[in-house]
Amino acid sequence: MKVLEVNSYTGPYEADFCSDFSFIEKIAGIENAFFVVDKQVYQLYEQELRPLFQGKPHFLMEAIEENKNIQEALCIVKEMLALPSKRNAVLVAIGGGIVQDVSAFVANILYRGISWVLVPTTLLAQTDSCIGSKSSLNFEHYKNILGYFYPPRKIYVNTNFIRTLTEKDYLSGLGEIVKCALMAGYESFLSTAKNLSALLAKDEQILLREIEKALRFKKKMIELDEFDRGPRNVMNFGHTFGHALESTSDYAIPHGQAVSYGMMVANEISCKRQYITTEMKQNIQRVLFQIVTPDLLKTEFFSGDVYLQAMKHDKKYTGGMHTCILFHGDGVEKHSDVTDAEIMDATKIVLGEFENADRV
Ligand SMILES: NC(=O)c1ccc[n+]([C@@H]2O[C@H](COP(=O)([O-])OP(=O)(O)OC[C@H]3O[C@@H](n4cnc5c(N)ncnc54)[C@H](O)[C@@H]3O)[C@@H](O)[C@H]2O)c1
Repeated sequence: MKVLEVNSYTGPYEADFCSDFSFIEKIAGIENAFFVVDKQVYQLYEQELRPLFQGKPHFLMEAIEENKNIQEALCIVKEMLALPSKRNAVLVAIGGGIVQDVSAFVANILYRGISWVLVPTTLLAQTDSCIGSKSSLNFEHYKNILGYFYPPRKIYVNTNFIRTLTEKDYLSGLGEIVKCALMAGYESFLSTAKNLSALLAKDEQILLREIEKALRFKKKMIELDEFDRGPRNVMNFGHTFGHALESTSDYAIPHGQAVSYGMMVANEISCKRQYITTEMKQNIQRVLFQIVTPDLLKTEFFSGDVYLQAMKHDKKYTGGMHTCILFHGDGVEKHSDVTDAEIMDATKIVLGEFENADRV
């Protein structure tokens, strides 16, 4: 079995990669476990997960953005406070990024920090969010505004879970795979782009390879700057525009697809500024077109008022111009001089290209 070790301020932690449910035995043996489980995963994998829950306390969570908030976190806290175990409790989170974010938050604040274990069940969580320590809750219309950095002690990445994802959630995860490939340089992007057909066909071997590649890239960034104060900022490539779209669409567009759209807008700006060639832009856009479902892009999400306003609610916006991560030469860089006009021009071009795109 392959293992990825990540060094954190809390000490090293590991992600084990597997393509069966043998890891369940290890989790079943965890003493004082409390399970926070995605309700849908609980239903779909009842047979495989049953040994975990028999006679063990668990909390079923509906994985929707509206639940990624402090009230939901406090409901879990309340149930855990009623357990005989205290600081020795271990929270086991089973689900995608939403269950992960709320669980990490609870594990971080309860008794000033308890141990937690993660079983990511979406492609996005397996390929991106499972490492990196971030916990994030939404508050009112602010996305991911509350949280800290608190990694799990162990992660089990099982690609079997991917088979039951909806198409849009699968594509969302693919968006993160392409993001990491691109951030690692244009050659790395081209090598992942060659696997696009296999990835779209959900070839598990290729998928596992690309998940590992993405996590290995992210590991480097985390180990350089776990608290996201400097070099790790570039991982927000596509996020300024992506978060705005998630918000204006009321989360109808899943995170990784919104980020893919965001990377397209960023590349349009890069090309206009001559940071990348038209050929590079076109090659990248061709891949991203396969990931963003065009029906999800409704005109009303992009009206200047709501769309630019949503960007101004982003925690990275400090007034004046926008700070965005742009592809420049052969890598990504932070630029704090992006104007409203550049964003609206680039958005118009990307949306226009969607109307005329030749989707294979
Ligand atoms: N903490 C981080 O570092 C980080 C990074 C990126 C994104 N995020 C957050 O993650 C969230 C998105 O997470 P996500 O895309 O993993 O999905 P999700 O948690 O939003 O789940 C998406 C849908 O998939 C369902 N689902 C989960 N596993 C399934 C499975 N195996 N089979 C069938 N259905 C399944 C869920 O019930 C839900 O309906 C966003 O809130 C985003 O902000 C966090």
